[in-house]
Amino acid sequence: MGFDAIEVIVAKRDRGELSAAQIDWVIDAYTRGEVADEQMSALLMAILLNGMNRREIADWTQAMIRSGERMDWSALDRPTADKHSTGGVGDKITLPLAPLVAACGAYVPQLSGRGLGHTGGTLDKLESIPGWRASLSNDEMLAVIRSAGAVVCAAGAGLAPADKKLYALRDVTGTVESIPLIASSIMSKKIAEGTGSLVLDVKAGSGAFMKNVDDARELARTMVELGTDAGVRTVALLTAMDRPLGLKVGNALEVEESVEVLAGGGPADVVELTVRLAREMLEAAAVPGARDPEEALKDGSAMDAWRRMIIAQGGDPDAPLPKAAESAVVTAPASGTLVTLDALKVGVAAWRLGAGRARKEDPVSAGAGVVLHAKPGDEVRAGAPLMTLYADEAGRFDRALQGLDGAYEIGVDGGADLLPLVIDRVTA
Ligand code: URA
Repeated sequence: MGFDAIEVIVAKRDRGELSAAQIDWVIDAYTRGEVADEQMSALLMAILLNGMNRREIADWTQAMIRSGERMDWSALDRPTADKHSTGGVGDKITLPLAPLVAACGAYVPQLSGRGLGHTGGTLDKLESIPGWRASLSNDEMLAVIRSAGAVVCAAGAGLAPADKKLYALRDVTGTVESIPLIASSIMSKKIAEGTGSLVLDVKAGSGAFMKNVDDARELARTMVELGTDAGVRTVALLTAMDRPLGLKVGNALEVEESVEVLAGGGPADVVELTVRLAREMLEAAAVPGARDPEEALKDGSAMDAWRRMIIAQGGDPDAPLPKAAESAVVTAPASGTLVTLDALKVGVAAWRLGAGRARKEDPVSAGAGVVLHAKPGDEVRAGAPLMTLYADEAGRFDRALQGLDGAYEIGVDGGADLLPLVIDRVTA
């Protein structure tokens, strides 16, 4: 049935509820170019201001899924599990997690994205490994998953094309920050990807999309409902993004830290979150006889799965990673306890050093980024290194240092007031 775009816009402008037929029509007509960008912009703004109820969000998500292909992993002989993070600074967890979960008995088909703004993208990180390829055909994906147990690659153009068009429009119309629109955007791609189970890592804090825990909880609840309603076993963890995750922020730097974790070392917070998410994934996928993730990190089987996954996508896991040509050290101005280390400011600094991009088509530097020498709660001495900045050109340091203005606080008599690493767990 055809509708009139103006009627649909006015219905939402006046706080009405859109019918399933109206939603199906408007998403399809927009994808085909029949509804104009300016009309969809008005509708998106009306949704941002007036919201959508659970039924409308589910219909909106299903309409976006129907705009493209839906992948099918039913030919595989083990359950599939995936994880999605809403993104943060130093969040490299997918890199150790995907091979770890594969080593424990599930298949992990993970379609990932590139970074935009201060948060890094998984594909940008993996592309710092010489030879590694992000673009795979569906047949290649299946071959990688069969040989390595996990595949991390770019989503093809056929997956939820309505979301690609809508996301680009939201980006330039001030309509990104809407929980119904974010939840439906993320979940349309994850459901179309065909995973049987999904664990969401919803971040809260300065370096995250959702600055406060209540908004993060609402986003998590909305996404868990969408996944569950679509028959995907879905659970969410709310996790801290008030400080960076781990000690390394930047593309090759985060690969380096992930390999440390796979070798049985690495920073405690990265290890803890990787193991916790792996356990959640194995439970959600109901993997029969699943192995213990801590064991798989210790005995080298997760590292073996990582090497197979990188080699299967053309990468050389033994090749040296690119290094930045220039470095600059930031020292502690006073002695005491490092009380805060703002995730957003560290992310902005890494971005300005060249690790991130301002526009979709910009290249990223593999070697650029920030290495932290202290995390909140640690004692620091005046003059001791607090962090080292890396860039391909020394000219980038000034702007990065400006971005770090007010990024940290050193206290004489206080511990750090931080969010717990895992704040809460949200289930259907
Ligand atoms: N990531 C997405 O894929 N969509 C959003 O709307 C926000 C983050």
